[in-house]
Amino acid sequence: MSDTHSGVFYITTPIYYVNDRPHIGHGYCTILADVLARFHRLFGQETYFLTGTDEHGQKVQEAAVKRGMSSQAHVDDMHRHFRDLWPTLHVSNDDFIRTTEPRHVRVVQHALQLLWDRGLIYRGEYEGFYSPRVEKFFAADELVDGKCPETGGEVHQIKESNYFFRMSQYRDALVAHIHAHPDFIRPESRRNEVLGFLKQPLQDLCISRPKARLEWGIPLPFDPDYVTYVWFDALLNYCTAAGLYLDDERFAHLWCGVHHLIGKDILTTHSVYWTTMLMALELPLPRHIIAHGWWLVDRTKMSKSLGNVVDPLAMKDKYGVDSLRYFLMREMVVGLDADFTEEAFLKRHNFDLANDLGNLANRLAKFVQRSMGGVVPAPGEGSGTPHDDDLRAMATGLPARVRELVEDLRIEAAVEAVMNLVRRINRYVAETEPFKVIKTDPAHAAGAVYHALEGLRFALNLLAPIMPGKCSELLAAIGAPPPVTSLDALRWGDLPAGAAVTLQDAPFPRHEVPTFQAADPGAAPAPARKPGKAGAAAREAGPSGAPGPADATPAPMGVAQAGVASGDPSAAPAKVTYDHFAALDLRVGTVLAAEAVAKSDKLLRLDVDLGEARPRQVVAGIAKAYAPADLVGRQFLFVANLEPRKVFGLLSEAMVLAGHDDDGLAAFSPLRPLPAGAKAS
Ligand code: ME8
Ligand code: MG
Repeated sequence: MSDTHSGVFYITTPIYYVNDRPHIGHGYCTILADVLARFHRLFGQETYFLTGTDEHGQKVQEAAVKRGMSSQAHVDDMHRHFRDLWPTLHVSNDDFIRTTEPRHVRVVQHALQLLWDRGLIYRGEYEGFYSPRVEKFFAADELVDGKCPETGGEVHQIKESNYFFRMSQYRDALVAHIHAHPDFIRPESRRNEVLGFLKQPLQDLCISRPKARLEWGIPLPFDPDYVTYVWFDALLNYCTAAGLYLDDERFAHLWCGVHHLIGKDILTTHSVYWTTMLMALELPLPRHIIAHGWWLVDRTKMSKSLGNVVDPLAMKDKYGVDSLRYFLMREMVVGLDADFTEEAFLKRHNFDLANDLGNLANRLAKFVQRSMGGVVPAPGEGSGTPHDDDLRAMATGLPARVRELVEDLRIEAAVEAVMNLVRRINRYVAETEPFKVIKTDPAHAAGAVYHALEGLRFALNLLAPIMPGKCSELLAAIGAPPPVTSLDALRWGDLPAGAAVTLQDAPFPRHEVPTFQAADPGAAPAPARKPGKAGAAAREAGPSGAPGPADATPAPMGVAQAGVASGDPSAAPAKVTYDHFAALDLRVGTVLAAEAVAKSDKLLRLDVDLGEARPRQVVAGIAKAYAPADLVGRQFLFVANLEPRKVFGLLSEAMVLAGHDDDGLAAFSPLRPLPAGAKAS
């Protein structure tokens, strides 16, 4: 996002339906928006952050009826579950909008009247189907088995007189805009999806419901017998909060920097309905529409309608808000799906936060308190080793790198880059051994501890947008000044010598990882191989765990597993000639993207750079061993000349090589980075 360097950064989340309580999916989107807002503030940009609730429509009215309440009483009660949740998750929104507020009703009615006066809304007959779950109209030929094409839910047939917005006439202008602004819809896969959708003729949009059938909505200003279609109403919230039709100057100022963060479930409404509405209203289109992926539970979307939700409050209460935010940001690659499991959460917490970060802070603090009078030592000449320069260079180069990654929406990579600094500091402590030399060479010990603490201060400042609470606390506890408010103010050497180091307890206590029951037998970790069956062959353990064909053709698995050495010579594969071996095209590939494969707990879908014009798609049975976010940017060894095969409906165009023992898989990686496509022999 090269254009984020200047001007306002106005970030919005979807406004959530108040038919039920929030779940982790809503938590994720809002926390991601918060992390972006906090980073952009650190980049020195003026930032405005909006979230809120979508309170009209059939779905909300039905929820109210179910509770035996009036719609108004229901939304007044239910919106609090969202509004009150955000501060507890350390979300720093500037505004919270409800679509039932007078300021919004006014804007919606004003916009409708404008379009009506300009002849852009007309009355006609509507015939089609309505899906309350997504609050959208569908034509008969769009239904799948008579059900909603997006959710498989019920639809209601509707035939009635209604009002229509002339959406169809903006198709060409919209296509042109998308072509002229390649990063208007992000990521690129979603942009292509929208362009694909726009290949068909665009319909006009039904924007009303007769009051006789739905009364919970904003009345049309030109026909009191009708209320406004909920999406037409909801989308305008972004403008209401910016001051449209109220404060032109403020609106113009904020609107030129608007970024809509949404889930991929509401891509069409934002990229097509909303953009054409803006064109008709003669307002500028948003700068970016950013569609993130879904948190899945057992490989299906977590959703209120499906009832398989994880409660963010429960997670926060159990493990702490900072840990939850860290997991959500580290685990998911923006734009791709990810699986939510408590097990993955706990592993992240234990490995990254308890071990790498928490232990480092704790060990340094304890040492300072025991051997250095409990205050930050003077840097002096440092540790007297070349590691000082190395550590300082890494720390001081990091803010620019993090900024680049965040502007590119690579949040998981930004987190990983900071965690690499944390790991570097851990190594630095091992290299310089201040604990050992404190008696013999106290000056060097002091210098080493200063460097380690100063490196840690950099890491904590860069993690502060992700974990604002814990990072502030920890900074204070190591004697550092409060988090910087601008990255430019993060300068090496600002940790004041003599400041008290007060850290007492482990900042991220480890959590026991319970043994989680696999949902089905097929979901159990890769079964341990029986001794005697092992061999360095790409012959078995396909995605289903089923043995592959017995001939030399590898199974359609996308992963080959080299077995543990068995010591059983009878199991050794037959000798092959060098030519046979050389016929294999073994190459180093860089993983560009990784995501879960729906309905499979073993498979990941990878985009792999094998040094060719386009990346290859690889479907690999490695989901048990790796989270998608762990793989992106890493290099592995691939068999590049296997027959492509379909796995779970996806074409797999290469196979990753991995070793295997009782703990599962480990993929083979080069010891140092190689150019993508480098031959292995
Ligand atoms: O669609 N994983 O509201 P909504 C990740 N009111 N994110 C998820 C998710 C999941 N499993 N489930 C939901 C609406 N979300 C409309 C929006 S905007 C003018 C109107 C997040 O309550 C994701 O951001 O169904 C998704 O787009 C949003 O919640 C939908 O929330
Ligand atoms: Mg929804």
